Amino acid sequence: MTKAPVVTLDGPGGVGKGTVSALLAKHFGWHYLDSGALYRLAALAAKNHGVDFTNEEALAVIAEHLDIRFDQQDSGVKILLEGDDVTSQIRSEEVGANASRVAAYSRVRDALLKRQRAFRTEPGLVADGRDMGTVVFTDAPLKLFLTASSEERARRRWQQLKDGNIAADFEQVLVDIQERDERDSSRAVAPLKPAEDAVIIDTTELSIDDVFNQAVALIKDRVE
Ligand code: C5P
Repeated sequence: MTKAPVVTLDGPGGVGKGTVSALLAKHFGWHYLDSGALYRLAALAAKNHGVDFTNEEALAVIAEHLDIRFDQQDSGVKILLEGDDVTSQIRSEEVGANASRVAAYSRVRDALLKRQRAFRTEPGLVADGRDMGTVVFTDAPLKLFLTASSEERARRRWQQLKDGNIAADFEQVLVDIQERDERDSSRAVAPLKPAEDAVIIDTTELSIDDVFNQAVALIKDRVE
């Protein structure tokens, strides 16, 4: 592993990690790892190839051989799976729920580990996910763990879906978030939890700017 600085942002779905991580990466000129996208891509590839979501062996093979590309464009990152643009498709609630199913298998997680660590290159990395601080980058000099009430997270996720022109029912988004939290927190491998040395930020009453500013101050203090 290189010694490029890495800042980890972990936390449950809809907490705003993705938005804050992307802003931080841009601000510091660092790379950005959206690890959730990898699990979403594995889930979509499994579905496309007709793989059963209970078949760990076959899911691990899919994860190992994922043919994906993250293309940086002016408008954001374009995500390709086997050559197809799946940038908005992987954001659906269905793909998210399937991602949390495949993510429960240790062989799938192992298959994605090396790919995630490969993102750690100079000048630095912001890594967003569930186990960035507890498993993937345990030696990160700064680990953040974002939380917020499930209602607030459902509201943010619903708004995000709406902004992306994806139709969604608020009550259903809330139920999905709660089910996903339960599955992500109770699984045997790499459960969602703060690293012992993580700084926990409750964002329920905070704006994206507030969280961003707190994170920038912590990075300047501890990493730069
Ligand atoms: O963050 P996002 O909603 O895109 O993640 C989708 C799913 O992928 C999560 O619900 C979680 O089960 C899984 N995941 C994970 N470990 C990560 C990132 C995501 O298990 N580091």
